[in-house]
Amino acid sequence: MTEFWESTLAETVRISERLTDNPTRSQDVTEWLGRYLEGVPTSSNQGTANLPFQRWFHFKEAFSPKFVADTLGSLPYKVESCVDPFGGSGTTALTCRMLGIASTSVEVNPFLADLIEAKLSTVAPAAFCASYERLIKNLETREADQALAPGMPRTMVAPGMNDRYVFPRDVYTTARAIARQSNDLLPDYARLVRVLLGSVLVSNSNVVINGKGRRYRRGWQTKQRSCADLIESLDAAIDVAAADITRFSGLPRGRHSVIRGDARVTLGSIRESSVDVAIFSPPYPNSFDYTDVYNLELWILGYLNSGAANRDLRHDTLRSHVQMKWHSTPRFAVSEVLDKTLAALRQVRADLWNPNIPEMVGFYFDDLCKIFQHLKRILRRGRHAVVAIGDSQYASIHVDVASILIESLSGIGFRLTEQGAIRSMRNSSQHGGSFELSEHCLVFERL
Ligand SMILES: C[S@@+](CC[C@H](N)C(=O)[O-])C[C@H]1O[C@@H](n2cnc3c(N)ncnc32)[C@H](O)[C@@H]1O
Repeated sequence: MTEFWESTLAETVRISERLTDNPTRSQDVTEWLGRYLEGVPTSSNQGTANLPFQRWFHFKEAFSPKFVADTLGSLPYKVESCVDPFGGSGTTALTCRMLGIASTSVEVNPFLADLIEAKLSTVAPAAFCASYERLIKNLETREADQALAPGMPRTMVAPGMNDRYVFPRDVYTTARAIARQSNDLLPDYARLVRVLLGSVLVSNSNVVINGKGRRYRRGWQTKQRSCADLIESLDAAIDVAAADITRFSGLPRGRHSVIRGDARVTLGSIRESSVDVAIFSPPYPNSFDYTDVYNLELWILGYLNSGAANRDLRHDTLRSHVQMKWHSTPRFAVSEVLDKTLAALRQVRADLWNPNIPEMVGFYFDDLCKIFQHLKRILRRGRHAVVAIGDSQYASIHVDVASILIESLSGIGFRLTEQGAIRSMRNSSQHGGSFELSEHCLVFERL
């Protein structure tokens, strides 16, 4: 049987055209999805490098708009409103916007929340470009732009620590000056400039980011970027964004909201029985620390201004990593598979690369159950929550995320209606690197 996320791109486009109720919008959708590169797992962001709006910021952990469109097309009812509790780069919201469906996205990371909001805002491209050009022409750096913000890691700018630093001094100072001066622009323009500046920071630094975090580029000491490089790449990013906004200027405005903050709390602000579907991919229980991975953007663009703010943000993220010492909370997820997994993990505690992993795994499922408890209230009866989620493995103990969720959500009022593997992921090299883990799509009906 072919799963709904395995449809061909041509089928997805046809379904999407059917979902839109207006010929102009359906033309937009055809052109937009037509730039997606087929033949890659739809739960990944591969294939979206040329996709308008998605190409503004390379967010590795995104799923594809095709996954969202396929999901929307597979539901046995017309979707009027959609929620994504873990908005990330805004794939769900943007796809909904293309299809004329209202959306609410929650995102805890303020840089990513701005990225989502920037994709959903309607700015006048010519006026935006003129404001940006004035900003660059009148750019003035101040002493404060050269200084480290309180709490900022010392490695952020030259001379750094132990002869290592992320940004050459002039790149750092220029980026900080642009971020500061962008605050004088109209709020929609300021947000867009900040987001696009964020999109060129890593490529103008001495580091590269991958699944395991940050590492220094080979030969970085002799191949440093300059402030001219930074501005050149920002100019190019502004041109790309302006082209996308111009091409899709006919998209309807409004009907999309971005809620900033911890979804475990903020989902409480959404009206009861007001949503038709939740489509999302939460962090996986694999110790990936989003606050750390997006730390350069958060500090340089001024979203963080103290060590305490960095800790608070980490604290507000789902308990899927061990970089924080989590407060212990009473068990909430009820699942035999989880109990067995936690007992097995405790037994091999001494072999784990971090001794707190067993507790983290338990907290992770408690957090997810909390999210589903909110969804139970928000979703109309008979409607669905569609989740793309991956397994994990620690010291040869497999964390079977799908089985644990299916068991624990049955007690909250959700019934599994569809399940399938989307792709297999290579296990982290920290755990040996030899196991293949699955990524699943789970469809739950709200009873
Ligand atoms: C796998 S990513 C989502 C990717 C998204 N589907 C996309 O296509 O861009 C998970 C997101 O959850 C966010 N997140 C983590 N903890 C959160 C929390 N407590 N509340 C809201 N968002 C959270 C992370 O910052 C990250 O952006």
